[in-house]
Amino acid sequence: MRLDKLLANMGFGSRKEVKQLLKKGAVRVNAEAVKDAALHIDTERDEVTILGERVVYKEFIYLMMHKPQGVLSATEDNRDRTVIDLLDADSQHFEPFPVGRLDKDTEGFLLLTNDGKLAHNLLSPKKGVPKTYYAHVEGIVTEEDVERFAEGVILDDAYLTKPGKLRILKSADVSEIELTITEGKFHQVKRMFVAVGKQVVYLKRLSMGPLSLDENLPLGSYRELTEEELNLLLQLSNN
Ligand code: URA
Repeated sequence: MRLDKLLANMGFGSRKEVKQLLKKGAVRVNAEAVKDAALHIDTERDEVTILGERVVYKEFIYLMMHKPQGVLSATEDNRDRTVIDLLDADSQHFEPFPVGRLDKDTEGFLLLTNDGKLAHNLLSPKKGVPKTYYAHVEGIVTEEDVERFAEGVILDDAYLTKPGKLRILKSADVSEIELTITEGKFHQVKRMFVAVGKQVVYLKRLSMGPLSLDENLPLGSYRELTEEELNLLLQLSNN
């Protein structure tokens, strides 16, 4: 990759600004000052520094966000704040997008990346990646609901869902449940409960495939995936 492209990709300014940095002699490749913007860099081998600081090249970014209510799982919107607005400029520079959608009023685990192939694979219906949700549900959730979810329920558009694994944590006027589903139809969890005559009043996604929400992440914040988390995800994506 060209040196100026690499530096621009890593957020050191536009190609033009990067040229200025090169002109000033701020950039070294393998300890040698370099002014040639077109120099080919082997991103695996060459060591690039700017003012003595190592530039570690990466193409992709993988973020886990604890999505709060009130923001859209979208990259831009004319009216509402989006999850991208919650990212700092360094992360935004990679142009990540949310992998799948959570409703505006849903909280919890959201993966953001610019790795289109990984996102595509994780969302593929063929993969059936499980997603687990915690919810408060108006109405007494019963064992009969557990059985109905296990068989799949018919949504308002006559779609028969795949089986869902429903676990009752508290059966009361406002019940608490966990539900694992392997598909992602529009408003699926809410509509599954409507199908059994109940209403979700609070929804939080706890996990997606092998990754669980880091409970140390405050609402609205995010962090990069650990190497271990990323490997689990890549394994799932590639199989
Ligand atoms: N199901 C829903 O109804 N809403 C979400 O945000 C996610 C799953």
